[in-house]
Amino acid sequence: MKKIAVFTSGGDAPGMNACIRAVVRTAIFHGLEVYGITYGYDGMINGNIKRMHSHSVSNIIQRGGTILKSARSAEFRTKEGREKAYKQLKALEIDGIVAIGGDGTFTGAKVFFEEFGIPTIGCPGTIDNDIYGTDYTIGFDTAVNTALEAIDKIRDTAAAHDRIFFIEVMGRDSGYIAVECGIGGGAEFVMVPETETDLKKVVKSLKNLRKSKSSSIIVVAEGDEEGNADLIMEKVKVKINDEDKEFKVTTLGHIQRGGNPTARDRVLASRCGMAAVEGLLNGEANCMAGVVNGDVAYTPFADCIGKTKPLKGDHLRLIEILSI
Ligand code: F6P
Repeated sequence: MKKIAVFTSGGDAPGMNACIRAVVRTAIFHGLEVYGITYGYDGMINGNIKRMHSHSVSNIIQRGGTILKSARSAEFRTKEGREKAYKQLKALEIDGIVAIGGDGTFTGAKVFFEEFGIPTIGCPGTIDNDIYGTDYTIGFDTAVNTALEAIDKIRDTAAAHDRIFFIEVMGRDSGYIAVECGIGGGAEFVMVPETETDLKKVVKSLKNLRKSKSSSIIVVAEGDEEGNADLIMEKVKVKINDEDKEFKVTTLGHIQRGGNPTARDRVLASRCGMAAVEGLLNGEANCMAGVVNGDVAYTPFADCIGKTKPLKGDHLRLIEILSI
């Protein structure tokens, strides 16, 4: 292996830059040429591929976003698109790839590897923490802390006015952000796509809670099966049916995707980036470099995509018990 390429794809996540930096510098350390592909798979198809050097990744470890840009590519889902991408890589004699992204990125990487055989290793970059084969994904810790800071602020105003706040956090298919910022923020309820949301129970508990508490915080993952925070708030409000009670909704949105990565995300990103390059050099392929039980581990893309990472059993229980 002499030349490798690195790219970011799907939703950006804080720490992606730290991962790119680790990939580039580890590759150079081992005497490889390294190329950066901008705009993910679209960039691969269009030949947006440039040589990177050690200085190309200076002063980025602390920055959110991704210097390589990101995209979700429709063309790469077609065989013709992937053929174009292969030709671009072949012209530059790229013989290894590091793909930083989430399950969509790995789905593409798996198909591409199986069709064209360029060894590829993924690094788990998504704020959602929904990738099997790693304890945490790059960006999750930063996103949780961003959401938590917002919840703390909302709690101040919620308490001042005795209001019930529904706070929507990201997580289309995953409740990890909701659960962790719900625990950290002392939420009364957390609603997530993985578990059935029992609105009757929420209404009953809120009525009881209101006897002893002046305000309440309910964290809603955007993908909850009862709907988004606006919809859920309306459903609960109608059932509580009390004009003295005020209901508010705050949707945190994309602020959760930006900002300087936390120390944990920078370290995780750096470890995964180094492990991806060294994995390629050691003959690993078609897999993701993650951290399992604290140690670097390679998990086949097939498992990362095919298996779900369940929420931790005690987390939702913790919220229930601590909110009484
Ligand atoms: O996959 C990460 C994620 O942040 C999800 O939690 C969210 O639903 C989605 O990306 C939003 O994507 P976009 O930036 O394309 O709106």
